[in-house]
Amino acid sequence: MLRRLHPEQPEAFAFTPANQAWAEAQITKYPEGRQASAVIPLLWRAQEQEGWVTRPIIEHVAAMLDMAFIRVLEVASFYFMFQLHPTGSIANIQVCGTTSCMICGAEDLIAVCKEKIADKPHTLSADGKFTWEEVECLGACANAPMAQIGKDYYEDLTAERFAEMIDELAAGKVPVPGPQNGRYAAEPKAGLTSLTEYEAGRPQYNASAQLAVDIGDTVKRIDGTEVPLVTPWLGGGARTAPAAAPVAEAPKPAPAAEAPKPVEAPKAPEPAPVEPAEPTEAAKPKGLTEARGGQADDLKKIKGVGPKLEKLLNSMGFYHFDQVAAWTSAEIAWVDDNLEGFKGRVTRDNWVEQAKTLAAGGTTEFSKKVDGGDVY
Ligand code: FES
Repeated sequence: MLRRLHPEQPEAFAFTPANQAWAEAQITKYPEGRQASAVIPLLWRAQEQEGWVTRPIIEHVAAMLDMAFIRVLEVASFYFMFQLHPTGSIANIQVCGTTSCMICGAEDLIAVCKEKIADKPHTLSADGKFTWEEVECLGACANAPMAQIGKDYYEDLTAERFAEMIDELAAGKVPVPGPQNGRYAAEPKAGLTSLTEYEAGRPQYNASAQLAVDIGDTVKRIDGTEVPLVTPWLGGGARTAPAAAPVAEAPKPAPAAEAPKPVEAPKAPEPAPVEPAEPTEAAKPKGLTEARGGQADDLKKIKGVGPKLEKLLNSMGFYHFDQVAAWTSAEIAWVDDNLEGFKGRVTRDNWVEQAKTLAAGGTTEFSKKVDGGDVY
């Protein structure tokens, strides 16, 4: 199947603020120079937000990761999980058509899709609410036939129940995921033959269906406000989500009488974390109109600066290591805030310290790699 960009594309794309913060945090998971590793999570979050992967999304992600457009397009067009066509405003229904499901009635489900949605897959229904496609085995073969709708699995489907479910979704309801024929999980269709004593006390739904009900985002478009941004790998940095309140420890039983221990000297209080300065327009560092003597420094020797960022810095009037080395904390905050698509990089990679070394004629581990041709 040819996977190409859809002929009709929106003008632009932007992550919601919460999704943008989430995306920037994902990038920090990867070592310097390996930011492209975040391409799949970023594309996926964009699809969760918009429903499909558009050209502006690919351009946006490419700019954020300092990647060529074609490299991101290659990823988006290679993996079938990325939808390159507009999907239904409510859901893109994915019917499994592999062996177990096919034997158990997948063709009947596809007939329902053709009748209620559109004759062809990847085509919007007349009301724009649904699209459908046939997919390969989704790993729920014991409950065939099945379909994935949004994030959840609907199993043990019949054509009648499936048609009913599409009507419920169109009416704004979300059917409970899981088996649709009264089966609890993946036990024999005729009922339990062993461990029957557990039947009486079990919860209403099996664990997967219960979790889907609890989370409630089966067909929701994700705007990033659903769960707090958690970034433990940043070790409490400025972009971490507010830490959860510490769990109160249960009081410990009094210890048995022991020989008295030497009293420990009280520990010095931990220094308060330095709050990053708020960016203000007045704090914009002074730039140059062009490189001194027409010879700019190779800013890519600063770890965290790639060709795109170097261009951006030049366009802002920064061409030399000594310029970066002289930034005050207010100026750092301004630059951090104005690096579209790369916000926070100055602080994250400590450009100023690197620039001081380079401006003084020294080298850093990273600049040695650049000099040695090991960084592309
Ligand atoms: S064959 Fe349909 S889920 Fe495996």
